Amino acid sequence: MPAGALRDPPDTTQVSGLLRMTRDAVAPHMHGAIHHSLVNLSSEIHACFLISVYSVYELPSLAFRTRRLHFGRSMQRASPPALNHRRRFDLPPTMPSTTRLADGTELPLPGFGAMGMSFAYGEKNDEQSKKTLRKAIELGCTVWDTADMYGRGHNEQIIGEVLREGENRKKVFLIDKFGNRWDDEKKSFYVDGSPEWTIEALDQSIKHLGGLYPDAYLLHRVDKRTPIEQTVRALDALRKEGKTKYIGLSECSAETLRRAAKEATIDFVEVEYSPWELVMERNGVLDACKELGIKVLAYSPLGRGFLTGRYKSAEDFKKDGDFERLTRYWNSRQNWPRLTEENFQKNYKIVEEFERLAAKKGCKPSQLALAWLMAQGDHIIPIPGTKSEKYLVENFAARDIELSQAEIDEVRKVIDDNAPVGDRYPAGAMAALDQ
Ligand SMILES: NC(=O)c1ccc[n+]([C@@H]2O[C@H](COP(=O)([O-])OP(=O)(O)OC[C@H]3O[C@@H](n4cnc5c(N)ncnc54)[C@H](OP(=O)(O)O)[C@@H]3O)[C@@H](O)[C@H]2O)c1
Repeated sequence: MPAGALRDPPDTTQVSGLLRMTRDAVAPHMHGAIHHSLVNLSSEIHACFLISVYSVYELPSLAFRTRRLHFGRSMQRASPPALNHRRRFDLPPTMPSTTRLADGTELPLPGFGAMGMSFAYGEKNDEQSKKTLRKAIELGCTVWDTADMYGRGHNEQIIGEVLREGENRKKVFLIDKFGNRWDDEKKSFYVDGSPEWTIEALDQSIKHLGGLYPDAYLLHRVDKRTPIEQTVRALDALRKEGKTKYIGLSECSAETLRRAAKEATIDFVEVEYSPWELVMERNGVLDACKELGIKVLAYSPLGRGFLTGRYKSAEDFKKDGDFERLTRYWNSRQNWPRLTEENFQKNYKIVEEFERLAAKKGCKPSQLALAWLMAQGDHIIPIPGTKSEKYLVENFAARDIELSQAEIDEVRKVIDDNAPVGDRYPAGAMAALDQ
């Protein structure tokens, strides 16, 4: 067929009608399960056929809409013919915009991290933060991450206030974490994953939340003095008691995770995962999560703001209101190895590259980073953090960005060519990691 002939689109209503008629003609002659599966199969074939037609006739938005309508965004696993088709035409690889837990609960992507509203980044502004939280509900950005450590209860309190308004509690999937315990004498945090503290910390969190229970409860850091089996048994007991529905670990090694998963079902693992931090791809944690059916909460997905291009020098963190010193071991971002002035400038190339690729795509660098993360699989839940409504809206809209395989590969190359200089945490915090 001459190339020009392809430009003249077919009457799509007729094509759809023809396929529907074929399916309806076949279906009544079938019975029970066979009937049911044939109807489903024929509707999948129908959709695949339409996607092919639209793609050949260079109608990507129709192809995309048909695919989303028929397969949702998790088609990657579901339909081999469509996959082959996708590769052939370099179509968007159907970025996941939701993820499904083992019990069928569907969670929208990306999620949201509330830490900065109470801890680490700039000044607190509760009224602004609560407005942002309400906006998140309005948008449907309803997977929220908090921890008892963030502002030592402050983060849970503002979240609790917003969740107790109207029907809000029902709309949000709340992930809470414990294990970084405050030592008032030493004025610093230490890790405690003992069964006693696992139970007591949740009671304190429930109090901070104003009587609400978190949906998921995670150990924030692995306690090297408490065998993980003991912590997980306590977490599982809390789940059985109905004080939480899901459990998980944060910043664990693959080995710890496998031991934990032998003890009880682990639903979530929270790790630093971003275009600027790929350690979890190399140390077996992401592989273990995939193998064990565990969802990955990708924290600091914007490289603590660095990848957004908003910060031009380490000094800008200070201007943003970062604290000079948070606790004995925690000081502000500009003193973290990867973000010191010297390394900030050495590392800046990746920001420029993200800005270049994002401009080509017509989106923000932050959105490109989040879309790229979501393209790594629908088990990845990025939880970008912000205090502002504006950035929240921007970040959640990353779910609408479709990256083709070629674009995903291009971002990967930029990431590989621009590996960061400097550790992701200061020495004290690095030592607390389970690696
Ligand atoms: N499990 C753990 O150990 C752990 C560790 C760290 C974080 N977390 C969780 O992960 C969440 C996210 O990580 P994170 O907050 O460290 O880092 P992040 O999401 O990579 O970056 C947050 C920073 O980026 C800025 N920002 C966000 N969206 C932006 C946009 N569209 N344009 C420009 N700037 C933007 C924020 O500014 P503003 O605040 O001014 O809006 C903030 O300074 C946290 O809130 C927390 O819930 C977990």
